[in-house]
Amino acid sequence: MDHKVANSLKILSEADKEACETVHITENEPGVGKKKLFIESYGCQMNFADSEIVASVMRDAGFVTTSDVNTADLIFLNTCAIRDNAEQRVRNRLKQLSFVKKRNPGALIGVLGCMAERLKANLLEEEKVVDIVTGPDAYRDLPRLVEEAETGQKGVNVFLSREETYADISPIRLNSNGVTAFISIMRGCDNMCSFCVVPFTRGRERSRDAFSIIREANGLFAEGYREVTLLGQNVDSYKWQSESGTINFAQLLEMVARVSPDLRVRFSTSHPKDITDEVLYTMKRYDNICKYIHLPAQSGNSRVLELMNRTYDREWYIGRINAIRNILGENCGISHDMISGFCTETEAEHQDSLSLLEFVRFDFGYMFSYSERPGTLAAKKFADDIPESVKSRRLSEMIEVQRRISLERNQRLVGTVQRVLVEGASKKSEADLSGRSDQNKVVVFPRENFKKGEYVDVLITECTAATLLGRVVQEEPVLA
Ligand code: SAH
Ligand code: SF4
Ligand code: F3S
Repeated sequence: MDHKVANSLKILSEADKEACETVHITENEPGVGKKKLFIESYGCQMNFADSEIVASVMRDAGFVTTSDVNTADLIFLNTCAIRDNAEQRVRNRLKQLSFVKKRNPGALIGVLGCMAERLKANLLEEEKVVDIVTGPDAYRDLPRLVEEAETGQKGVNVFLSREETYADISPIRLNSNGVTAFISIMRGCDNMCSFCVVPFTRGRERSRDAFSIIREANGLFAEGYREVTLLGQNVDSYKWQSESGTINFAQLLEMVARVSPDLRVRFSTSHPKDITDEVLYTMKRYDNICKYIHLPAQSGNSRVLELMNRTYDREWYIGRINAIRNILGENCGISHDMISGFCTETEAEHQDSLSLLEFVRFDFGYMFSYSERPGTLAAKKFADDIPESVKSRRLSEMIEVQRRISLERNQRLVGTVQRVLVEGASKKSEADLSGRSDQNKVVVFPRENFKKGEYVDVLITECTAATLLGRVVQEEPVLA
């Protein structure tokens, strides 16, 4: 996933998705006399979670975060490299920042994250405004790099680690609504999907100390948080060696679910090749593990899936969907990622992707047109031979089918009561509150006297493809 901070968005084109994933800035504490850090995040939920680690590292080095880029001493862009347009957005932002730097010549600019890792020192050559380049495993080194940059020495650290999980660093919850939080449980990825740059930008897969995860979840609950999302590129391959044996993802999920029945637990991303029945049965056993699975498909055609090196075929994918429906029931929310116009994809193979959407009837999905990434297996082995116009027409067709199905899936819920965790004011009106249902659907309802962090039961009265609308219903008091 990428993530999906865009949780509230149901059907997204590539452009929409990046637009909503971009800005993430905040002020963590008043800091008279302290140096100011402005940090902006792009890309997936893991990058947003990393920015919270970065803010923590920099706080220890004497910085406070600010939401005003013009007065910042240090400007960090935590970047994404997943598609070419994700990188173009960062390059455009750097152009804007060169004007900020003209007005405030003392400000330093750091490029962090996946684009930094992909381009390394070249970024300093290509973008003169940049002072610091730091990959995702080198954030502990940021204070040193900043100190050097303050003396005029530009710095790069793109070392990828096999061990770093930042387990001991308490993230500063940037832009937090105080109700929902991300917890990174692993880093990197060992799956070499042929289209994907992540294994190159994030390095080898490693799992974080399970007890540090539980400590973090306990701490969040004590602070009033009521939902955690466990993050990894492939959470099903979580594996951590404790003194009493190996803890797998299903076991970790159970440990987190036991923190409190009032703490909702979500996770992302599941990989179709690895999601086990054990995970599904664990979800079933705990009411507070949300019945929602993001299961990226990428294509509905087995030949294309093979070229993508996803290591499953259409039948296997459908088998996992059937297992989800059998174990967790028809109402379990399921979403997908799909790519249109991968190398050599024929019209008939594209139809297979559309038919998979129809067959599964996903609740929502994130759809993208294929963007060749330098250095990936696909870039080396196959020509990027589908014209852009064809990719985008196929993308529109997928989005259209998904929009209709999302609407139909939501319409089934009109007349039902959904338990919602209140996250805050709705985007459109202060008079309404918004939260998500167990199945990760955004639900909007009149505020009345309800507060964020509360669980409410909402009778769904209307819907769009993206949102459920309703009003809170309270149980009649039982008369003695
Ligand atoms: N780990 C997750 C995906 C992380 S990347 C998984 O395996 O499913 C998020 C999504 O971006 C992917 O699911 C894929 O749909 C999309 N994506 C990745 N590389 C891409 C590329 N080169 N072009 C277009 N979309 C891409
Ligand atoms: Fe990329 Fe595949 Fe890893 Fe997901 S599982 S991050 S798509 S290589
Ligand atoms: Fe995430 Fe983008 Fe990196 S999707 S892992 S920030 S390439």
